[in-house]
Amino acid sequence: MKILAIESSCDETAAAVVEDGRRVLSNIVSTQIEKHKIFGGVVPEIASRLHAEAISFVVSDALKQAGCELCDIDAVAVTYAPGLIGALLVGVNYAKGLSYSSGIPLVPVHHLRSHIAANYITHPELEPPFLCLVVSGGNTLLVNVKGYTDFEIIGRTRDDAAGEALDKAARSLGLPYPGGVNLDKAAKSGNPDAFKFPKPHVSDNPLDFSFSGLKTSVINTIHNASQKGEQVSVADLGASFLNAVVDFLETNTEKAIDLCHAKTLALAGGVSANSVLRSRMETLAKKKKVKLYLPELSLCGDNAAMVASQGYYEFLSGKRADMTLNAYATMPITEEM
Ligand code: KG4
Repeated sequence: MKILAIESSCDETAAAVVEDGRRVLSNIVSTQIEKHKIFGGVVPEIASRLHAEAISFVVSDALKQAGCELCDIDAVAVTYAPGLIGALLVGVNYAKGLSYSSGIPLVPVHHLRSHIAANYITHPELEPPFLCLVVSGGNTLLVNVKGYTDFEIIGRTRDDAAGEALDKAARSLGLPYPGGVNLDKAAKSGNPDAFKFPKPHVSDNPLDFSFSGLKTSVINTIHNASQKGEQVSVADLGASFLNAVVDFLETNTEKAIDLCHAKTLALAGGVSANSVLRSRMETLAKKKKVKLYLPELSLCGDNAAMVASQGYYEFLSGKRADMTLNAYATMPITEEM
Protein backbone atom coordinates (compact mmCIF):
# COMPACT_ATOMS: atom_id res chain seq x y z
CA MET A 1 0.00 0.00 0.00
CA LYS A 2 1.45 3.38 -1.06
CA ILE A 3 0.93 6.53 1.00
CA LEU A 4 1.67 10.04 -0.22
CA ALA A 5 2.40 12.23 2.80
CA ILE A 6 2.62 15.99 3.23
CA GLU A 7 4.33 17.85 6.08
CA SER A 8 4.34 21.64 6.61
CA SER A 9 4.17 22.13 10.38
CA CYS A 10 7.15 24.48 10.73
CA ASP A 11 9.89 25.49 8.30
CA GLU A 12 10.25 22.49 5.99
CA THR A 13 7.86 21.82 3.11
CA ALA A 14 8.01 18.06 2.64
CA ALA A 15 6.33 15.28 0.68
CA ALA A 16 7.11 11.57 0.48
CA VAL A 17 5.80 8.30 -0.87
CA VAL A 18 6.23 5.29 1.42
CA GLU A 19 5.14 1.71 0.82
CA ASP A 20 3.58 -0.32 3.65
CA GLY A 21 4.76 2.16 6.27
CA ARG A 22 8.44 1.28 6.03
CA ARG A 23 9.79 1.35 2.46
CA VAL A 24 10.65 4.90 1.39
CA LEU A 25 10.13 5.43 -2.35
CA SER A 26 10.77 9.18 -2.17
CA ASN A 27 11.37 11.76 0.53
CA ILE A 28 11.57 15.39 -0.62
CA VAL A 29 12.32 18.16 1.88
CA SER A 30 12.43 21.82 0.85
CA THR A 31 13.91 23.74 3.77
CA GLN A 32 13.30 27.41 4.51
CA ILE A 33 16.31 27.76 6.85
CA GLU A 34 18.16 30.33 4.72
CA LYS A 35 15.06 32.58 4.58
CA HIS A 36 14.57 32.59 8.37
CA LYS A 37 18.26 32.83 9.27
CA ILE A 38 18.41 36.62 9.00
CA PHE A 39 15.63 36.91 11.62
CA GLY A 40 17.33 34.45 14.02
CA GLY A 41 14.29 32.14 14.09
CA VAL A 42 11.20 31.04 12.20
CA VAL A 43 8.86 33.89 11.19
CA PRO A 44 5.42 32.21 11.01
CA GLU A 45 3.95 34.45 8.29
CA ILE A 46 7.00 33.97 6.06
CA ALA A 47 6.89 30.21 6.71
CA SER A 48 3.26 30.00 5.53
CA ARG A 49 3.96 31.95 2.35
CA LEU A 50 7.01 29.85 1.50
CA HIS A 51 5.03 26.62 2.07
CA ALA A 52 2.35 27.91 -0.32
CA GLU A 53 5.03 28.65 -2.95
CA ALA A 54 6.79 25.28 -2.61
CA ILE A 55 4.10 22.71 -1.95
CA SER A 56 2.99 21.88 -5.52
CA PHE A 57 6.59 21.39 -6.67
CA VAL A 58 7.52 19.31 -3.63
CA VAL A 59 4.52 17.00 -4.02
CA SER A 60 5.14 16.62 -7.79
CA ASP A 61 8.80 15.79 -7.10
CA ALA A 62 7.86 13.20 -4.48
CA LEU A 63 5.49 11.43 -6.90
CA LYS A 64 8.01 11.63 -9.76
CA GLN A 65 10.93 10.33 -7.70
CA ALA A 66 8.76 7.45 -6.46
CA GLY A 67 7.85 6.62 -10.08
CA CYS A 68 4.17 7.11 -9.26
CA GLU A 69 1.15 8.90 -10.59
CA LEU A 70 -1.57 10.05 -8.22
CA CYS A 71 -3.67 7.07 -9.33
CA ASP A 72 -1.04 4.70 -7.81
CA ILE A 73 -1.53 6.24 -4.36
CA ASP A 74 -3.82 4.51 -1.82
CA ALA A 75 -4.07 7.31 0.75
CA VAL A 76 -2.92 10.89 1.34
CA ALA A 77 -1.54 11.48 4.85
CA VAL A 78 -1.05 14.98 6.21
CA THR A 79 0.30 16.58 9.38
CA TYR A 80 -2.63 18.46 10.94
CA ALA A 81 -1.27 19.20 14.47
CA PRO A 82 0.63 20.49 16.37
CA GLY A 83 2.65 23.24 14.71
CA LEU A 84 2.46 26.77 13.32
CA ILE A 85 -1.18 27.17 12.39
CA GLY A 86 -0.68 29.07 9.12
CA ALA A 87 2.04 26.64 8.05
CA LEU A 88 -0.06 23.56 8.89
CA LEU A 89 -3.05 24.97 6.99
CA VAL A 90 -1.07 25.03 3.73
CA GLY A 91 -0.38 21.29 3.92
CA VAL A 92 -3.84 20.39 5.21
CA ASN A 93 -5.62 22.36 2.47
CA TYR A 94 -3.37 20.99 -0.25
CA ALA A 95 -3.98 17.44 0.97
CA LYS A 96 -7.73 18.08 1.14
CA GLY A 97 -7.64 19.34 -2.46
CA LEU A 98 -5.77 16.24 -3.63
CA SER A 99 -8.15 13.93 -1.79
CA TYR A 100 -11.29 15.73 -2.99
CA SER A 101 -10.23 15.85 -6.62
CA SER A 102 -9.01 12.23 -6.77
CA GLY A 103 -11.27 10.43 -4.29
CA ILE A 104 -8.18 9.09 -2.47
CA PRO A 105 -8.78 8.72 1.30
CA LEU A 106 -7.34 11.42 3.55
CA VAL A 107 -5.55 10.46 6.78
CA PRO A 108 -4.72 13.09 9.43
CA VAL A 109 -1.42 12.52 11.28
CA HIS A 110 -0.21 13.96 14.59
CA HIS A 111 3.26 15.47 14.13
CA LEU A 112 4.82 13.86 17.23
CA ARG A 113 3.40 10.44 16.38
CA SER A 114 5.18 10.75 13.05
CA HIS A 115 8.48 11.66 14.73
CA ILE A 116 8.19 8.37 16.64
CA ALA A 117 7.41 6.56 13.37
CA ALA A 118 10.76 7.74 11.91
CA ASN A 119 12.13 4.82 13.92
CA TYR A 120 9.96 2.30 12.00
CA ILE A 121 11.67 3.39 8.78
CA THR A 122 15.19 3.24 10.23
CA HIS A 123 14.56 -0.05 12.06
CA PRO A 124 12.15 -2.28 10.11
CA GLU A 125 12.09 -4.79 12.99
CA LEU A 126 10.86 -2.25 15.59
CA GLU A 127 7.33 -2.80 16.84
CA PRO A 128 5.43 -1.41 19.84
CA PRO A 129 5.42 -1.63 22.81
CA PHE A 130 8.39 0.56 23.65
CA LEU A 131 9.32 3.59 25.68
CA CYS A 132 10.07 6.74 23.66
CA LEU A 133 11.76 10.00 24.61
CA VAL A 134 10.33 12.61 22.23
CA VAL A 135 12.49 15.72 22.12
CA SER A 136 11.60 18.38 19.59
CA GLY A 137 11.52 22.15 19.28
CA GLY A 138 8.10 22.49 20.89
CA ASN A 139 7.70 19.33 22.96
CA THR A 140 9.52 17.10 25.41
CA LEU A 141 7.66 13.93 26.32
CA LEU A 142 8.25 10.49 27.73
CA VAL A 143 5.75 8.29 25.94
CA ASN A 144 4.74 4.73 26.51
CA VAL A 145 4.09 3.58 22.91
CA LYS A 146 1.61 0.78 23.64
CA GLY A 147 0.61 0.31 19.99
CA TYR A 148 1.07 2.05 16.66
CA THR A 149 -1.84 4.37 17.48
CA ASP A 150 -1.99 3.91 21.25
CA PHE A 151 0.11 6.30 23.35
CA GLU A 152 0.37 7.05 27.05
CA ILE A 153 2.21 10.17 28.22
CA ILE A 154 4.19 9.35 31.35
CA GLY A 155 6.32 12.50 31.50
CA ARG A 156 6.13 15.93 29.92
CA THR A 157 7.72 19.33 30.19
CA ARG A 158 5.94 21.77 32.48
CA ASP A 159 7.24 24.77 30.53
CA ASP A 160 9.80 24.97 27.71
CA ALA A 161 10.79 22.08 25.48
CA ALA A 162 14.41 20.91 25.44
CA GLY A 163 14.78 22.11 21.83
CA GLU A 164 13.40 25.55 22.72
CA ALA A 165 15.92 25.87 25.59
CA LEU A 166 18.81 24.82 23.31
CA ASP A 167 17.69 27.25 20.59
CA LYS A 168 17.43 30.18 23.07
CA ALA A 169 20.82 29.35 24.58
CA ALA A 170 22.37 29.20 21.10
CA ARG A 171 20.83 32.53 20.16
CA SER A 172 22.05 34.18 23.38
CA LEU A 173 25.53 32.82 22.65
CA GLY A 174 25.41 34.51 19.25
CA LEU A 175 25.16 31.27 17.27
CA PRO A 176 23.13 31.42 14.04
CA TYR A 177 19.73 29.82 13.48
CA PRO A 178 19.07 26.86 13.58
CA GLY A 179 20.38 27.08 17.13
CA GLY A 180 20.30 23.48 18.35
CA VAL A 181 22.43 22.07 15.58
CA ASN A 182 24.95 24.94 15.77
CA LEU A 183 25.17 24.57 19.56
CA ASP A 184 25.84 20.86 19.05
CA LYS A 185 28.76 21.74 16.72
CA ALA A 186 30.16 24.55 18.91
CA ALA A 187 29.98 22.40 22.06
CA LYS A 188 32.18 19.67 20.58
CA SER A 189 35.38 21.52 21.48
CA GLY A 190 34.08 22.77 24.86
CA ASN A 191 34.46 21.58 28.44
CA PRO A 192 31.08 20.31 29.73
CA ASP A 193 32.18 20.89 33.35
CA ALA A 194 33.31 24.51 32.88
CA PHE A 195 29.99 26.00 34.09
CA LYS A 196 27.61 24.61 36.71
CA PHE A 197 23.84 24.75 36.25
CA PRO A 198 21.13 24.16 38.86
CA LYS A 199 19.54 20.70 38.76
CA PRO A 200 15.88 21.29 37.87
CA HIS A 201 13.37 19.81 40.29
CA VAL A 202 9.76 19.12 39.40
CA SER A 203 7.38 18.09 42.17
CA ASP A 204 4.46 15.62 41.84
CA ASN A 205 5.62 13.61 38.82
CA PRO A 206 9.24 12.41 38.91
CA LEU A 207 9.16 11.93 35.11
CA ASP A 208 8.17 15.51 34.25
CA PHE A 209 10.68 18.01 32.89
CA SER A 210 11.22 21.75 33.27
CA PHE A 211 13.74 23.63 31.15
CA SER A 212 12.80 27.28 31.81
CA GLY A 213 15.09 27.57 34.87
CA LEU A 214 18.05 26.21 32.94
CA LYS A 215 17.27 28.57 30.07
CA THR A 216 17.13 31.60 32.40
CA SER A 217 20.33 30.49 34.07
CA VAL A 218 22.32 30.35 30.81
CA ILE A 219 20.95 33.73 29.69
CA ASN A 220 21.88 35.27 33.10
CA THR A 221 25.39 33.82 32.87
CA ILE A 222 25.86 35.48 29.47
CA HIS A 223 24.39 38.84 30.64
CA ASN A 224 26.46 38.90 33.85
CA ALA A 225 29.64 38.23 31.91
CA SER A 226 28.86 40.94 29.37
CA GLN A 227 28.06 43.48 32.13
CA LYS A 228 31.48 42.77 33.66
CA GLY A 229 33.08 43.06 30.23
CA GLU A 230 34.15 39.42 30.41
CA GLN A 231 34.33 37.12 27.42
CA VAL A 232 32.52 33.77 27.80
CA SER A 233 33.78 30.79 25.88
CA VAL A 234 30.91 29.80 23.55
CA ALA A 235 32.30 26.25 23.36
CA ASP A 236 32.58 25.84 27.16
CA LEU A 237 29.22 27.43 28.03
CA GLY A 238 27.52 25.62 25.14
CA ALA A 239 29.00 22.28 26.19
CA SER A 240 28.08 22.84 29.87
CA PHE A 241 24.50 23.85 29.03
CA LEU A 242 24.04 20.95 26.65
CA ASN A 243 25.40 18.67 29.32
CA ALA A 244 22.85 20.01 31.86
CA VAL A 245 19.94 19.54 29.42
CA VAL A 246 21.04 16.02 28.46
CA ASP A 247 21.60 15.12 32.15
CA PHE A 248 17.98 15.96 32.88
CA LEU A 249 16.70 14.03 29.84
CA GLU A 250 18.85 11.04 30.79
CA THR A 251 17.88 11.05 34.49
CA ASN A 252 14.15 10.98 33.76
CA THR A 253 14.54 8.42 30.98
CA GLU A 254 16.35 6.13 33.41
CA LYS A 255 13.56 6.57 35.97
CA ALA A 256 10.98 5.80 33.25
CA ILE A 257 12.83 2.61 32.23
CA ASP A 258 12.72 1.46 35.86
CA LEU A 259 9.10 2.44 36.47
CA CYS A 260 7.82 0.85 33.24
CA HIS A 261 10.21 -2.13 33.32
CA ALA A 262 10.94 -1.14 29.72
CA LYS A 263 12.96 -3.48 27.53
CA THR A 264 13.04 -1.20 24.49
CA LEU A 265 13.80 2.52 24.26
CA ALA A 266 13.53 4.82 21.25
CA LEU A 267 14.42 8.46 20.70
CA ALA A 268 12.44 10.81 18.46
CA GLY A 269 12.20 14.47 17.38
CA GLY A 270 14.66 17.05 16.09
CA VAL A 271 16.84 17.04 19.22
CA SER A 272 17.39 13.29 18.81
CA ALA A 273 20.00 14.33 16.19
CA ASN A 274 22.12 15.73 19.02
CA SER A 275 25.45 13.94 19.28
CA VAL A 276 25.75 14.18 23.08
CA LEU A 277 22.20 12.95 23.65
CA ARG A 278 22.66 10.01 21.26
CA SER A 279 25.89 8.88 22.87
CA ARG A 280 24.54 9.28 26.44
CA MET A 281 21.43 7.27 25.53
CA GLU A 282 23.68 4.53 24.13
CA THR A 283 25.56 4.37 27.42
CA LEU A 284 22.30 4.40 29.40
CA ALA A 285 20.83 1.61 27.25
CA LYS A 286 23.90 -0.56 27.90
CA LYS A 287 23.74 0.13 31.64
CA LYS A 288 20.00 -0.68 31.86
CA LYS A 289 20.25 -3.56 29.35
CA VAL A 290 17.53 -2.14 27.11
CA LYS A 291 17.51 -2.26 23.32
CA LEU A 292 17.96 1.27 21.95
CA TYR A 293 16.55 2.56 18.66
CA LEU A 294 17.75 5.89 17.26
CA PRO A 295 16.23 7.43 14.13
CA GLU A 296 18.75 7.92 11.32
CA LEU A 297 20.00 11.51 11.25
CA SER A 298 18.20 12.40 8.01
CA LEU A 299 14.87 11.42 9.63
CA CYS A 300 15.32 13.27 12.96
CA GLY A 301 14.17 16.63 11.62
CA ASP A 302 10.83 17.31 9.97
CA ASN A 303 10.19 15.16 6.90
CA ALA A 304 7.21 13.54 5.23
CA ALA A 305 8.49 9.94 5.13
CA MET A 306 7.79 9.66 8.85
CA VAL A 307 4.29 11.12 8.26
CA ALA A 308 3.64 8.47 5.62
CA SER A 309 4.86 5.75 7.99
CA GLN A 310 2.57 6.83 10.82
CA GLY A 311 -0.18 7.55 8.28
CA TYR A 312 -0.03 3.90 7.23
CA TYR A 313 -0.74 2.70 10.77
CA GLU A 314 -3.42 5.35 11.29
CA PHE A 315 -5.03 4.17 8.01
CA LEU A 316 -4.94 0.53 9.17
CA SER A 317 -6.60 1.59 12.43
CA GLY A 318 -9.43 3.14 10.39
CA LYS A 319 -8.62 6.81 10.81
CA ARG A 320 -9.95 9.02 8.01
CA ALA A 321 -10.67 12.73 7.58
CA ASP A 322 -13.16 14.49 5.37
CA MET A 323 -13.26 18.01 3.95
CA THR A 324 -13.95 19.45 7.42
CA LEU A 325 -10.39 18.58 8.53
CA ASN A 326 -8.78 21.56 10.28
CA ALA A 327 -5.25 22.29 11.52
CA TYR A 328 -4.47 22.78 15.22
CA ALA A 329 -1.52 24.61 16.78
CA THR A 330 -1.65 22.36 19.85
CA MET A 331 -2.95 18.83 20.29
CA PRO A 332 -1.94 16.10 22.76
CA ILE A 333 -0.34 13.02 21.19
CA THR A 334 -3.04 10.91 22.86
CA GLU A 335 -5.98 12.76 21.32
CA GLU A 336 -8.13 10.85 18.84
CA MET A 337 -9.98 12.95 16.27
O1 KG4 B 1 11.28 17.95 15.80
P1 KG4 B 1 11.79 19.18 15.17
O2 KG4 B 1 12.49 19.06 13.84
O3 KG4 B 1 10.70 20.25 15.01
C1 KG4 B 1 9.60 20.28 15.82
O4 KG4 B 1 8.68 19.54 15.49
O5 KG4 B 1 9.65 20.98 16.87
O6 KG4 B 1 12.78 19.80 16.22
C2 KG4 B 1 13.44 20.99 16.01
C3 KG4 B 1 14.37 21.18 17.19
C4 KG4 B 1 14.95 22.57 17.23
O7 KG4 B 1 14.86 23.05 18.55
C5 KG4 B 1 16.39 22.33 16.81
O8 KG4 B 1 17.28 23.28 17.34
C6 KG4 B 1 16.64 20.96 17.42
O9 KG4 B 1 15.46 20.26 17.11
N1 KG4 B 1 17.81 20.29 16.86
C7 KG4 B 1 18.90 19.99 17.59
C8 KG4 B 1 19.82 19.37 16.71
N2 KG4 B 1 19.25 19.31 15.47
C9 KG4 B 1 18.01 19.87 15.60
N3 KG4 B 1 19.17 20.20 18.88
C10 KG4 B 1 20.36 19.79 19.33
N4 KG4 B 1 21.29 19.20 18.56
C11 KG4 B 1 21.07 18.96 17.25
N5 KG4 B 1 22.00 18.36 16.50
